[in-house]
Amino acid sequence: MKIVVANWKMNLLRKDAAAFCEAFLKAYKPKGRVEVGIAPSFPLIRAVKNRVATSGAKVFAQNGHAEAKGAFTGEVSMPQIQDSGCDGVILGHSECRQYNGETEATLVPKIRAARENELLPLLCIGETLAQREANQTLEVLRQQLSILPEVGAGPLWLAYEPVWAIGTGKVATPEQVREVHAFIREEVVRLLGEAGKEVPILYGGSVTPDNFEELLTIPDVAGGLVGGASLVPEKFLKLVQQAQAS
Ligand code: 13P
Repeated sequence: MKIVVANWKMNLLRKDAAAFCEAFLKAYKPKGRVEVGIAPSFPLIRAVKNRVATSGAKVFAQNGHAEAKGAFTGEVSMPQIQDSGCDGVILGHSECRQYNGETEATLVPKIRAARENELLPLLCIGETLAQREANQTLEVLRQQLSILPEVGAGPLWLAYEPVWAIGTGKVATPEQVREVHAFIREEVVRLLGEAGKEVPILYGGSVTPDNFEELLTIPDVAGGLVGGASLVPEKFLKLVQQAQAS
């Protein structure tokens, strides 16, 4: 199975999302075992879901709260996300780790809450530039993955997103991606046993149609989690077609 997920981050208005869906759906032909996902901001979720539902594309939220309800002003719960039409939720994105203080400890109850509400957690992990330069990449990833036994086997997609490659145009080299994805697979199998073999591992960080074909040939790269290039329907479509052809 190959997977391409658009992370729109805090971009697009309703009219832009509608135009994106129209342009994308006009040319998109579901094919083979390729899953397509779109993660819009909360206010766009329902409109995107209504438009893409018949295509089979999954809709993801970009974050969610661990509690089901209560006095958490500004937050959105997993039941609300599920109720708005989402199939999954991105968790642990480096921007949430950086700006919202997301940590391994806060992620455990979020992953559990997502699963309890039939939402597929798409857990992001990745090292900063300073950590890579200090040769700490694998150690950081090991730490970020260490929560897996706590949440146990269950629905899960992973995305390796080196922070230094996000929005910078600096894609990780095929060698770097190969090394890290092999390490992640090994860790996930060590932590979850047989079930770990089935967890798809996406790559994210400056993915474009110019580098995606090569990334898709790397063992244990199940696809891409795409920011900037996913805002342009033609580019996102091209990425999906590359996954279909791989
Ligand atoms: P870019 O594709 O813009 O580098 O963003 C990657 C990302 O953060 C996806 O979650």
